[in-house]
Amino acid sequence: MTARTRAVFIGKNAPTPASSGTTKLFGLTIAMSEQNTFISQLFSLEGKRVLLTGASSGLGRHFAPTLAKAGAHVILASRGVEKMREVADGIEAFGGSCEIVALDVRSRDAIRSCIENLESDGPIDVLVNNAGIAIVKSPQHLTDDDWDAVYETNLRGAWVLAQEIIKRRLADQRECSIVNIASVLGLRGIGHVAPYAAAKAGLINLGRDLSTDLAKNGVRVNAIAPGYIETEMNQEWLKTEGGERLRKKVPAKRFGVPADLDGALLYLASDASRYTNATVLTVDGGFVGAL
Ligand SMILES: NC(=O)c1ccc[n+]([C@@H]2O[C@H](COP(=O)([O-])OP(=O)(O)OC[C@H]3O[C@@H](n4cnc5c(N)ncnc54)[C@H](OP(=O)(O)O)[C@@H]3O)[C@@H](O)[C@H]2O)c1
Repeated sequence: MTARTRAVFIGKNAPTPASSGTTKLFGLTIAMSEQNTFISQLFSLEGKRVLLTGASSGLGRHFAPTLAKAGAHVILASRGVEKMREVADGIEAFGGSCEIVALDVRSRDAIRSCIENLESDGPIDVLVNNAGIAIVKSPQHLTDDDWDAVYETNLRGAWVLAQEIIKRRLADQRECSIVNIASVLGLRGIGHVAPYAAAKAGLINLGRDLSTDLAKNGVRVNAIAPGYIETEMNQEWLKTEGGERLRKKVPAKRFGVPADLDGALLYLASDASRYTNATVLTVDGGFVGAL
């Protein structure tokens, strides 16, 4: 039997290899080889409380079960409570742990009282700043309201959430990881998304600056810069002729799907990245690297 086929046994009478661990899945005992135990422990979020914003749609809707499958208690946050309930039902169906909170990240007061309430149940170990909006307009047509909406959602909200959690982790001297969902558009220009591009670039540099102050305290701040990932935010446009032209510019010759980000998310959220600070992981099928 090869190492590959020996890796996972599922079933009540599964043989238990020497020096293995076991885990429960759907009521079945799974005997895990040493290799699998090592991998699952490396990226484990067991015992961690993870606050995920933008959990009602797109990437967040996918990230929530991903984090729960890694063992986290996931706190789903957005304005769309009904949509989050569906996500939570999916998590509970496989025995994952989660709760939902209504939160508008444009409101400082709402963020502050939300964090205060959540922390009364236990410290937040991981913050995934994923809530975001994009407004696509040529520069001469952008309004101040457009700018404020994009900036407050994508950058200021992420900052206020981070600050509220950082204050508490410094006070209780507990480590935490902040994962900011930025964008390749924070690394390069593409046109028609000026406030979005500025906010995402700001989010990337926010992590670098915070890391300079906080890495010594065990507060890690990193970013993921996704390329074009098919979600509610963009799927109609990606199907247009413009979208097709763009797809051809991606070296991988396809747009991403949310699951393409799972590895980067679990790496940065978990202790696997314990010596990783101030970094930005591009997950973009080679889009930025090939420029
Ligand atoms: N899809 C891509 O290709 C791509 C690429 C790079 C980066 N990103 C980034 O990935 C993140 C998720 O994008 P997505 O594609 O999943 O978009 P999406 O499907 O439109 O989801 C956006 C999420 O943000 C939440 N949100 C928006 N405004 C909010 C507010 N004021 N308060 C709280 N939550 C708010 C929405 O929830 P409610 O409306 O229910 O509040 C929703 O859950 C964004 O930051 C986006 O910029 C996406």
